[in-house]
Amino acid sequence: MDRIRITGGNELNGTISISGAKNAALPLMTAALLTDDTLILDNVPRLADVAQLQRILGNHGVDIMTSGKRPGDSEYQGQTLHISAKTIIDTTAPYELVSKMRASFWVIAPLIARMGEAKVSLPGGCAIGTRPVDLLIMALEKLGAAIQIDGGYVVCKAPKGLKGATIDFPKVTVSGTHVALMAATLAKGTTVIENAAREPEVVDVADCLLKMGAKISGAGTPRIVVEGVNRLNGTRHTVLPDRIETGTYAMAVAMTGGDVQLAGARPELLQSALDVLVQAGAVITPNNEGVRVARNGAGLSAVKVSTAPFPGFPTDLQAQLMALMTRAKGSSLITETIFENRFMHVQELARFGARISLDGETATIEGTDRLRGAPVMATDLRASVSLVIAGLAAEGETMVNRIYHLDRGFERLEEKLSACGADIERISG
Ligand code: UD1
Repeated sequence: MDRIRITGGNELNGTISISGAKNAALPLMTAALLTDDTLILDNVPRLADVAQLQRILGNHGVDIMTSGKRPGDSEYQGQTLHISAKTIIDTTAPYELVSKMRASFWVIAPLIARMGEAKVSLPGGCAIGTRPVDLLIMALEKLGAAIQIDGGYVVCKAPKGLKGATIDFPKVTVSGTHVALMAATLAKGTTVIENAAREPEVVDVADCLLKMGAKISGAGTPRIVVEGVNRLNGTRHTVLPDRIETGTYAMAVAMTGGDVQLAGARPELLQSALDVLVQAGAVITPNNEGVRVARNGAGLSAVKVSTAPFPGFPTDLQAQLMALMTRAKGSSLITETIFENRFMHVQELARFGARISLDGETATIEGTDRLRGAPVMATDLRASVSLVIAGLAAEGETMVNRIYHLDRGFERLEEKLSACGADIERISG
């Protein structure tokens, strides 16, 4: 298994190009199942999760053509996928494929909406709490689907098609909102999604669905209204930049010091995180090409932060912020409100000499001047990258093991960081 070796202590200086958002690319690819026309997606990141979803779609009979760069494309432009679900040959998504990635479960929505049946294995993905699918099932049942759990599979039937309904989510759920939105586009009549997730990735998917002929209003607000249509058409859509990747590199620069342009980043997608970084001592300057992040010689300040649905501080940046706060002056408090058990990075950060105590959903981090490199590993994507951030600032060598999860969500991580002066390399095998 590949590992990443880091020798800490270098400042980061230069430019990092921000890739397309994984969490938008995955539902956008899934939405291709809604139409027998071709959906063309630009700026799709080259990630293990994207490749995995390509395999899952292939299993349903979807043809995917990947095209290379075109004249005028920048060096770092993501890939373009031409996705054609002209004929769906199989409405089952098997355990072997779905168990590797939670978002693959979402194929259930376009399959039931277009084909009237779907059989999808209960999902896997990052080990960050129980992550049930009860609300996704509730949404599909509201739209008239009959659902049974059989042998680890969710078996979903709606032979006469789905019917519009009001879906009121008891808690904000990104996955629930994606599933409800996709399914409602082809349902008969009007669907109202209450307490909908407002995440930018939901808005990006809604924008693409609109171009495909869907009738949607209110995406980006807590109330989304969908008028069902008979069919959707193909279109061309560019995946929005990854706000979590942006925030991660911004925290890396705040950690090491230096001055980095995050090219292609959109600051409004992560304002709450940028506000926290400013409070911690970073200098954030939005400009025409993205966001510039710098930190001068002054130390970092402690912060108090709770994760929350968008526009709050994202849970997907919680681990990275905790790594950063291990070097701040004073005590920081970080409360995780979205996922239980999303603190697996705490014991690994302790290997660097970080002082963190946990009390229920809240971590207290006592900052220290000195982190020391260590062998570490993590079992989820964002936790893994928090260890890289700690390693960049730690004295001596850090070896991050089991980097499979990093490859799921961060494109060319070691390449992007080493181009800015980090001493970081991938060791194969
Ligand atoms: C998505 C993101 C993930 C991010 C999360 C929260 C993708 C591919 N993943 O995950 O990176 O951390 O949003 O911003 O976009 N819940 C239920 N029942 C359900 C569904 C969810 O109880 O049926 C709970 C979850 O356990 C969690 C909360 O709702 O406590 C939010 O989960 P959700 O927003 O659905 O997260 P994901 O879509 O899985």
